[in-house]
Formats: sequence, C-alpha cells, structure tokens
Amino acid sequence: MPDSPRLDPWGRGQVEDYPRLVEAFGIESFPPLLPGVAKPMRYMARGVIFGHRDYARVIEAMRARGPFGVISGFMPSGRAHLGAKMVMEEIVWHQRMGGDATVAIADMEAHAVRGVSWEKCREWGVSEYILSLIALGLKPKNARVYFQSENRQVQDLAFELAKEANYSEMKAIYGFTGETTLAHMLCPAVQAADILAPQLPGNGGPRLLVVPVGVDQDPHIRLTRDMAARMDPLIVEHHQKKVVVRSRKGRISLKEIIDFLEAVAEKIEKEPPPVEIQQSFSDQRIETFRGSILEQLDAIKKIRFTAHEQHIEFQPRTAGVIEAIVGVYNRYEGGYNFLPPAGLYHRFMSGLTGGKMSSSVPESHIALSEPPKDAEAKVLKARTGGRATEEEQRRLGGEPGKCAVYELMQFHLDDDKALGEMHDLCVGGRRLCGACKKWAAGEMRGIMEEHREKREEARGRLDEFGVKAPRS
Ligand code: TRP
Ligand code: SF4
Repeated sequence: MPDSPRLDPWGRGQVEDYPRLVEAFGIESFPPLLPGVAKPMRYMARGVIFGHRDYARVIEAMRARGPFGVISGFMPSGRAHLGAKMVMEEIVWHQRMGGDATVAIADMEAHAVRGVSWEKCREWGVSEYILSLIALGLKPKNARVYFQSENRQVQDLAFELAKEANYSEMKAIYGFTGETTLAHMLCPAVQAADILAPQLPGNGGPRLLVVPVGVDQDPHIRLTRDMAARMDPLIVEHHQKKVVVRSRKGRISLKEIIDFLEAVAEKIEKEPPPVEIQQSFSDQRIETFRGSILEQLDAIKKIRFTAHEQHIEFQPRTAGVIEAIVGVYNRYEGGYNFLPPAGLYHRFMSGLTGGKMSSSVPESHIALSEPPKDAEAKVLKARTGGRATEEEQRRLGGEPGKCAVYELMQFHLDDDKALGEMHDLCVGGRRLCGACKKWAAGEMRGIMEEHREKREEARGRLDEFGVKAPRS
C-alpha cells in the first residue's frame, strides 16, 4: 500500500485524515456504537474518540456487568501533557464503569527508544503520570500500576510473545531497518505483554480488555490481537453458520483431540482441574466446566461436525461447549486462551499555536504539572478561528472548527452547556476572540488549579497503589 499512511507509534502523533484511517487499516468507526453506551464519556459524546477495534464487545460486557478490564500505558519521556490526560481519563472512566484497571509505565520503552535514564524514568513515571492519574480519579481497588522494568511477569511473557514474530513482520509493521536497535525492536513485544498479562491465570484469567490510546498505537493493538491467537495450539473461530476449531500448527488431528479430551475428562472426573487451569477460564466458562466435562464430551460426539485436515466445523449453538473444551486443551498444552484485546482510539489535539502539538515546543501544549497561570497565559496566546477584522467577525461569525481555543474546550471542558454557548456566541459573531479567549483561559486555569490540588493530595496516596515515592 504505497500511498496509504503508516501509523508510527514513535512518530509525532499527528494524523491528517481520520476517515482515511478507517479505510486503510480497518479501524472501525465509533459513532455507530455511541447510542449503545449507557453513560458515554465526554470524548465519546463529542466525537474525539472516533474509532475502535472490537469495542462493541466491551459495551456488551459493561451492560451485562460481565468481567472486563482496561489497560493502557505511558512512556515517561518528559512532562505529561493534555494528550496523556485523555488516556488517563479513559482509563478512569472504564474503571468507573466496572472494569479493572491496569497501567503500565513504559520505562523500558522510554529507556530504549528515547534514551531516558532509569532515574528520570522513575521520577517522571511517578510525578508526571501516576500522580495525575490518581488526581483524575483512579481508584486503588481493582487497579494495578507498575513499571515495565520491575515486572518480571511482563518481561517473561514478552519473551514468549517475541518467539511468535520475526523480523520481516516487524519491518512491515513498524518500518524497522538495519539501524533499529534490538532494544527498540523488543518494545512491541513488551507492550503486547503489558496488554495480555492481565489475562494470565492469577491476574484474573482470560477476559475482555480494552486499550484506550491515541490512534498512533494501533499497530501495537493489531499485532497484539494477532499474537494473542498465536499463543494457543487450537483456535476457535466464530463464523456465521459454523464454529471452526483450527489447529494452528496444523498438526493435531480430530482423533487426537477427542482422545486427549477423553483423557482430560477422565482426570477431571476423579479430581477437579488444577486451580491454575480453573483460573484460566472466565466465570461463565467455569460453570460450563463444572457441568461435567464428560457430559459435554458425550454431547460433542453427538454434535454433528465436519472434520477437515486441519480444522473441525461445528454448529454455532455448540460454541460455548466447544470453547470450554478447546480452552482446557490449550491450557494443558501450554497455551493461554487470551482473548484479543479491543482498541479505542481518540483524535490528537492540535497545538495551541496551530499546527502540531509538540513536547519540544512549550507554547504548543499544556503540561499537567505546569502552573495554572502559565496554562492560562498559553490559552491567551493561542491561535483562534477569528476573522481578519472585527466587522467581519460580527458579520460572519468566527470559525470554531479552525480554533485551537475551541478545540481545547471541546476536549477538556466538562460543561456541555458552556461549550454549546461558546460555539453559538462564536458562530453568531456575538463574542469576539479577545473576550472568548479570556473566558476560556479562565476555565483552563480553573481546570488546572483543581488538578494541581488533587495532585498534591495524591502524593500521600501513592502507597495505596503500591508505588514508592521517588526520592526528592
Ligand atoms: N507505547 C505507549 C506510548 O508510547 C506506551 C505503552 C506501553 C502502552 N505499554 C502500553 C500503551 C500498553 C497501551 C498499552 O505511549
Ligand atoms: Fe475561537 Fe472564541 Fe474566536 Fe470563536 S470567538 S474563533 S471560539 S476564540
């Protein structure tokens, strides 16, 4: 696809044409899902979250109060700005909706890709990211916050995942070259491990996880979804008219599977399956499981199926039973039964001064730890969608679609009514940019002041999240 854009997770975080992404990468459009979300968050309702992969299943899980989780991560490579705030709010929102929350501080990635020292990673990880996350409402119950470099389980899983991908694939996805360091090349595997580790036995077992991120991270999500399936010897595919069980390596015959399952069933009849195996099933599956696997085996023999060389086809209504049995098989054979994670994608904010928001241009962004009055000053200097003259603006109205100040409020002001008024006053030419900016700058200052207070409170609560405060 020579003329299609490449999404670069280590690029500048800028996308020209969002609808194009939906076409080029098979990212699904979010707005059709909106009516199904009971209490949509600000970014959903305002079209900032524009795309997803598989998020419909997450909505279903929220509605059914089924188990689900949210996982995302942050690279501690400097000050966290409003872009990171979006991810933080998305994590907190999903936690509020009943999900468990996992947050990775990607210090291995920051060290490998950005050359950040371990000390700085630690310091920024806590003071820029974790404090703000707590300030924005992350609760310690059902939350896990960790540094990649300190999580042996994630590192080990990364290694296992790395076995399943080769250089050609990495090159095709990320554009890696002969100059790319080995440490950098490992980062996608570590990130995939961040995303899949919550499904390990002992961390809650297989369940639906959603990864809210800027859309530049989609290549990681796609790879992770793929890798999830590569880790098991048998995979279950759901088609409209049939359920297909496929042997990934193409080595297992139907007879072998049935023989194996009978052996498993016999074992299970005598003694309950090891806790580790039980834990690798979601609650619903454990129920199926307890319903005696022998019965199911009987059922499976009565189920009509078609055996092909490398796959077996079943009728769709048997999906639950088939999944449970294949799940047991996979666990006994060293697989994981990972469910592919869902992705949820937001648009990037543009820079306050117009053009791109860049961490290296302070006027273009607002950092979460910056003094509220500095944030206020930046808004006053931001680029607007105002007209050339006052007369013109009164006659034609301003252009909020081209205004960084309007965008800032659209992303970060909670009050829908105030935002609507801002819009109407602007397009009606009833308020000029000077007055409008002054108002918006005041609102931003208020948001920043509240955040600052909450960050201060959060300092005393780090230990509730198992995080050590950095030496200061
Ligand atoms: N690569 C992400 C970034 O640059 C950080 C990250 C690490 C991450 N692990 C993750 C994001 C897991 C989502 C899920 O910001
Ligand atoms: Fe932007 Fe406000 Fe000016 Fe409209 S009036 S262009 S919203 S600053």
